[in-house]
Amino acid sequence: MIAVYPGSFDPATYGHLDVIQRASLAFDHVIVGVLHNSAKSPLFSVEERVNILKDAIKSYSNVEVRSFEGLSVNFARESHAQVIIRGLRAVTDFEYELQMAQTNRVLAPDVDTVFLATRLEYAYLSSTIMKEVASFGGDISKFAPSQIIERVQEKLLQR
Ligand code: PNS
Repeated sequence: MIAVYPGSFDPATYGHLDVIQRASLAFDHVIVGVLHNSAKSPLFSVEERVNILKDAIKSYSNVEVRSFEGLSVNFARESHAQVIIRGLRAVTDFEYELQMAQTNRVLAPDVDTVFLATRLEYAYLSSTIMKEVASFGGDISKFAPSQIIERVQEKLLQR
C-alpha cells in the first residue's frame, strides 16, 4: 500500500522524521509531500525543504520526497496512494486534523487518513517552536538532526 505524508515541513523536525520512519515500516511506499503554498511565507523555499528531507530520509529505501501544490487528496491520487498520513501530537491537534480528514474523505472517498501518534518525547515539538527558539539563540539540538539545525542557523543569520 502506498501512503503520502503531506505537510509544510519548514523545516522537518525529529517529530516528522519519527512519523516517516514508522510509516516506512507500516506501508510499502511512502511519499513525503512538501506543500508549495504561495500564501504562506516559509523560512525555507520549497526546494530547500525538499532537499533537507531528502538528506534526512536517504537511509529509507521505500521513502521518497516530492513537492506538491493544491489539494493533498489530488497529490495522493496522482501518487496512486490510498492513504494520507498525519501525525497527532496532542488533543489540540485533533479538531483541525479531524476536520481536514473528514473534508478529504468528502473530496476523495477512495483516500483514507491514517493518524500516527507522535512519540511522547516529541509531543511538544513543531517547526514553528523550533524556529522561534532558534531565532532567540536558544539551543535546538533536541529538536532536529545536526544537518537541519545548521541550516536553520545559517538561514537565520542571512535574515
Ligand atoms: O505541516 P502542516 O502545515 O500541518 O500541513 C498541513 C497540510 C499541508 C497537510 C494541509 O494544509 C493541506 O493538506 N494543504 C493542502 C490543501 C488541502 O488539501 N487542504 C485540506 C482540505 S481541508
